[in-house]
Amino acid sequence: MKEKIDFKLWSHAAADWSTQYLEGVANRPVRSPNAPGDVSAQIAATPPQKAEPMDVIFADFERIIPDGMTHWQHPRFFAYFPSNAAPAAIIAEQLAAAMSAQCMLWQTSPAATELESSMIGWLRQSMDLPDTFSGVLQDTASSATLCAVLNMRERALDWKGNTQGLSGMPRVRVYASTRTHSSIDKALWVAGLGQDNLVKIPTNEHFQMDLEALQEAITADRQAGFLPGGIVACVGGTSMGATDDVRQVCNIARREDLFVHVDAAWAGSAMICPEFRELWDGVELADSIVVNPHKWLGAPMECSAHFVKDPAMLQRTLSITPEYLKTREHEDIVNFSEWSVQLGRRFRALKVWFLFRAYGVSGLQEMIRNHVQWSVKLARRLEAESDFELVTQPILSLFTFRYTPAGNTNLDEINLDLLQRINNDGRIYLTQTDHDGKKVIRFVTGQFDMQESDVDIAFDAITSLAREM
Ligand SMILES: Cc1ncc(COP(=O)(O)O)c(C=O)c1O
Repeated sequence: MKEKIDFKLWSHAAADWSTQYLEGVANRPVRSPNAPGDVSAQIAATPPQKAEPMDVIFADFERIIPDGMTHWQHPRFFAYFPSNAAPAAIIAEQLAAAMSAQCMLWQTSPAATELESSMIGWLRQSMDLPDTFSGVLQDTASSATLCAVLNMRERALDWKGNTQGLSGMPRVRVYASTRTHSSIDKALWVAGLGQDNLVKIPTNEHFQMDLEALQEAITADRQAGFLPGGIVACVGGTSMGATDDVRQVCNIARREDLFVHVDAAWAGSAMICPEFRELWDGVELADSIVVNPHKWLGAPMECSAHFVKDPAMLQRTLSITPEYLKTREHEDIVNFSEWSVQLGRRFRALKVWFLFRAYGVSGLQEMIRNHVQWSVKLARRLEAESDFELVTQPILSLFTFRYTPAGNTNLDEINLDLLQRINNDGRIYLTQTDHDGKKVIRFVTGQFDMQESDVDIAFDAITSLAREM
């Protein structure tokens, strides 16, 4: 017979554990010190046949799991892009988990659907996007971009791709700069368009898509009998923050009748601050935009705002309603599963609601401004050291640098070695990238509760570990 657990006792235990974890996370090494297999070796090879007591399960969790985690809520997580989680939004996630609703249709969770529409509205207003955009909360930017590429494909093929497949169809082409995220490539793979139909446009000295090259590529493709479908513009690229001239890209797209999707997965959160909005000047001309509040705004994973100008077009691409999904009671309702690839959906809007209400737009703006300011401060300090070089200047809170000790020729190896030492040390966590043929170290702030002193610790860790080499 199925055991009944004392839900109240164990949910309180989980809340106590979570509180202690968040209070003490700064004392843990940021990146897990585990070696591959450390966790698997401690997990039973087969599932238990009989129920186990919750205290044993909980004790195993505490013993095995936290040390095997890389701590994304550590204030000195400066790697990749952040995936920050505001405490109030974590509480909303707990509540959503208790209800564990499947929010595919209005009818299956009216509150979730209506709150989602409202939260898209709040996000849109806080970023000063025009009310010509509506939208949906997708799980990730990869999904939002896939939806956008599918939309480009169907629009270009006069809505025949879903029914007839792609064989015998003209080759639909999508354009993006060489500095865009790999989720764009993957979207073309999954949409059946193929890597060869993603035309990578070189960038200029400002790391922006070269507009002349873009225009030439579109013209050449038309002459070759291909079917240009859309452009993905990048605002805040992953490697070093590359940002296209969105207005000019959209102008070309308008002339060429192409769909524009803007990938602002990371940088988009900063658009709640008016002073940063010049970065995506012209964004109102785009057809769709993705911004990940789960990266930098404080909404726990997964939460990607996918703003769309013409939701009917997105629905035409993705809506499929067999009898068992039809609802009859109401008109003028939104069924968000018709705006996304997945049918089943989590209740994502609750955490956005708690987030905005617990901190206010002004509190979130202050956090982002601090992050940017503290990153710039660290960049300036490293730049002033004779044995360090800033490779790319800060774009919002992201910059790249190298250790350049005198007389050393193999700087790539030295910097990868330094990175390894930094991450093994545990005080901070950084990652590397390639920039114009050089291995460089990325630095990006973003954890929700980090302080200025955390970037001071980063400076000490980076410089002292480099000079010990
Ligand atoms: C610019 C950019 N776009 C897209 C993505 C993919 O985001 P997600 O993990 O939400 O799919 C990332 C991830 O870091 C990114 O940096």
